[in-house]
Amino acid sequence: MNRNTTAVELAGIWTDFGDRAVHRGIDLRVPGGQKLALVGGSGSGKTTLLRIMLGLLAPQQGTARLFGRELETLSDDDQQAIRNRCGVLFQGGALFTDLNIYDNIALPLRELDALDEDTIAELVCMKLLMVRLDERVGSLMPFELSGGMVKRAALARALALEPELLFLDEPTSGLDPLAAENFVDVINRLHRDLRFTMVMVTHDVHSLHDLCDQVAVLADGELVAHGPIDQVIESEHSFVHHFFRGGRSRPISGAGAP
Ligand SMILES: Nc1ncnc2c1ncn2[C@@H]1O[C@H](COP(=O)(O)OP(=O)(O)OP(=O)(O)O)[C@@H](O)[C@H]1O
Ligand SMILES: [Mg+2]
Repeated sequence: MNRNTTAVELAGIWTDFGDRAVHRGIDLRVPGGQKLALVGGSGSGKTTLLRIMLGLLAPQQGTARLFGRELETLSDDDQQAIRNRCGVLFQGGALFTDLNIYDNIALPLRELDALDEDTIAELVCMKLLMVRLDERVGSLMPFELSGGMVKRAALARALALEPELLFLDEPTSGLDPLAAENFVDVINRLHRDLRFTMVMVTHDVHSLHDLCDQVAVLADGELVAHGPIDQVIESEHSFVHHFFRGGRSRPISGAGAP
């Protein structure tokens, strides 16, 4: 996608759960090809915002558009056709535990109801190689894989339909630093080859720095900072300051390292 197109557009998003407003008027545009990191404290509403972007949840107020279309106004089939242009890696990996890795990756391909099993087999094998998993991994069950392999298998499934837009929710959480670095390498290489737009939720400041070109920070229901990383790092908002320059994260270069 080129940068003149808009992959995601949120306008005035307001989301209440009971008497708690999780989003209080969020505006955000993600141009084609951008790699955006969405950060914020636990419970700040990041996963909920991804669900709104995908039209899986309707906000109380505001509009969400994917590829220029307001999903709420479309038929179920038209919504699905737009969602098929997106790959999603849900928080926690979200593989089906009762399907082996092959069948997990084949699932979105089979749901298209347009491909024969030989073609599906070729595509599954290709996706496994893309995320640096041996094709023999296909016959294993999710519980037989390490955490890093589960993440890569889930990424292979998210890539099954060759998405223009990839949503990653905490893709490196629970991985040791080396596995996280490997995962970042895989995504960077895939982005170089496939040029998808990416929206990634993360707490991992290093993955963010290595993977994304823009950051949006969600705090108190609002985007309190949004822009290129070097600019956002300079924000004096307390959450931004803590996230990039304090707390448990090792400071990144240019982020006030002692
Ligand atoms: N379907 C729902 N019904 C009621 N409350 C919900 C629902 N979905 C989310 N919430 C609440 O909204 C808030 C934001 O949740 P969300 O999962 O978006 O946070 P998050 O920023 O992704 O957090 P984390 O970093 O821990 O994953 C939480 O307080 C959560 O309990
Ligand atoms: Mg979440």
